[in-house]
Amino acid sequence: MKDLSSSGAWRVAVIGAGYVGLTTAACLAHLGNEVRCSDADQERVDKLANGIVPIVEDGLTELVKWGLHSGELAFSSSNTWAVEGAEFIFLCVPTPQGPSGRADMSYIETVSKEIGPYLSSEAVVINKSTVPVGSTHVVERMLGREDVKVVSNPEFLREGSAVHDFLHPDRIVIGADDEATAIRVSALFMHLGAPVLVTDPATAETIKYASNAFLATKVSFVNAVAALCEAVGADVHQVVLGMGYDPRIGSSFLKPGPGWGGSCFPKDVAALVRIAEDAGYDFSLLKGVIAVNEEQYARVVEKVQRLAGGELQGRTVALWGLTFKARTDDTRDSPALEVAKRLQDNGAKVVAYDPTVNRPMEGLEIAKDPYAACQGASVLVVATEWDEFRWLDFDKVGELMENRAVVDARNLLDRAALRRAGFSYEGIGLI
Ligand code: NAD
Ligand code: UGA
Repeated sequence: MKDLSSSGAWRVAVIGAGYVGLTTAACLAHLGNEVRCSDADQERVDKLANGIVPIVEDGLTELVKWGLHSGELAFSSSNTWAVEGAEFIFLCVPTPQGPSGRADMSYIETVSKEIGPYLSSEAVVINKSTVPVGSTHVVERMLGREDVKVVSNPEFLREGSAVHDFLHPDRIVIGADDEATAIRVSALFMHLGAPVLVTDPATAETIKYASNAFLATKVSFVNAVAALCEAVGADVHQVVLGMGYDPRIGSSFLKPGPGWGGSCFPKDVAALVRIAEDAGYDFSLLKGVIAVNEEQYARVVEKVQRLAGGELQGRTVALWGLTFKARTDDTRDSPALEVAKRLQDNGAKVVAYDPTVNRPMEGLEIAKDPYAACQGASVLVVATEWDEFRWLDFDKVGELMENRAVVDARNLLDRAALRRAGFSYEGIGLI
């Protein structure tokens, strides 16, 4: 290892090479640090070591290849190798939903116990995984090292724009028990030009959950307004536009859709309800937010059923989009899959197409292109807002379908053009 002590760059370890860990590792290497990244998945490590990035993220492959080439970035399946000589160690392992909604802390605990004895004296362990309030102190205990500090540094990147978000953050939050450690950690991010908020660990952990829960609340709110628009004959696009001119409201994160999903919102909102419950507070607002989201899946299925003439049994439904949003390959807790499952439960055959998903998925027929998915379909459902869906030949789509009918759960397509072409069209909250 080269001597980095006077260069304003550091030896960094990143444990977990998923959406957050790989982005963190590649970006910190790009910023001049010497980064070792480890992952328990040997196949993933082998690919990464050869410059093959197993996830879809704009700009990530280029950064990983550059890091490997320059020698700033290296991969292994050994966590103890990664932490050897590291001044900063980022924990980026999963915290999935466990029983009763609580976050499953077992990955964090296992890694902390494993690496504890191998950490350099005065190292700082930085928890980037989304973890329940109090977890920073849990990690401290698991490491069993008096000389090692632990801080919380929640991550706010979005999938699909992870590299951009990491390099252009709105804010850096550091939850630390002592200011000197917070300052040491903030130096890692000093070139990013973002405001740095230093708090105690519990506050930092709460900021992360509260942020995701608030964003999910916005989406549930607009989906509820969309339902109201349908009931009273208003247009949700115009309603959001009219609301958004008020700077206190804004118009971001108010796009109606099939419900919010992904690897984080569902588990994090459920975890916050549980954290509140465990602390003696009934977060009924968030329970409503979850309930509206569940209703949204059902509302999409009802629309399909209506356009199919009331009966889904024996009908074929074409599904465009399987990922939980566009520009990612992630299907974890995707609303598209939830809608597909409910359609199948009602007796429909679902034929799906997604530009980033061609692996087999349980119960679903995967088509080779969007047109093939429409062959003989009674209804087409647009579940993910892939831009390329806008520009397809809808005359061809109509000819392939048994019946010209579209449920556009992302309000993506040109509804006037589709109606002119003889399609029955239903969006979300549109007249
Ligand atoms: P991920 O599933 O994409 O990646 C996690 C990686 O950790 C996997 O590659 C897995 O093989 C590896 N891993 C599991 N156990 C390990 C071990 N013992 N040692 C080494 N590696 C191990 O997860 P992710 O989406 O990157 O999320 C990680 C954390 O970051 C979660 O807490 C999540 O809530 C949080 N987060 C995610 C996002 C996001 O957009 N995905 C954004 C902000 C925060
Ligand atoms: C979200 C947050 O935006 C990130 O800040 C956070 O770091 C991350 O969760 C996390 O903790 O993992 P992400 O899961 O990548 O990021 O996805 P979003 O872009 O937030 O979308 C979440 C869901 O809401 C998607 O299903 C999306 O389609 C839906 N959504 C979003 C809408 O239906 N309408 C909107 O206006 C916005």
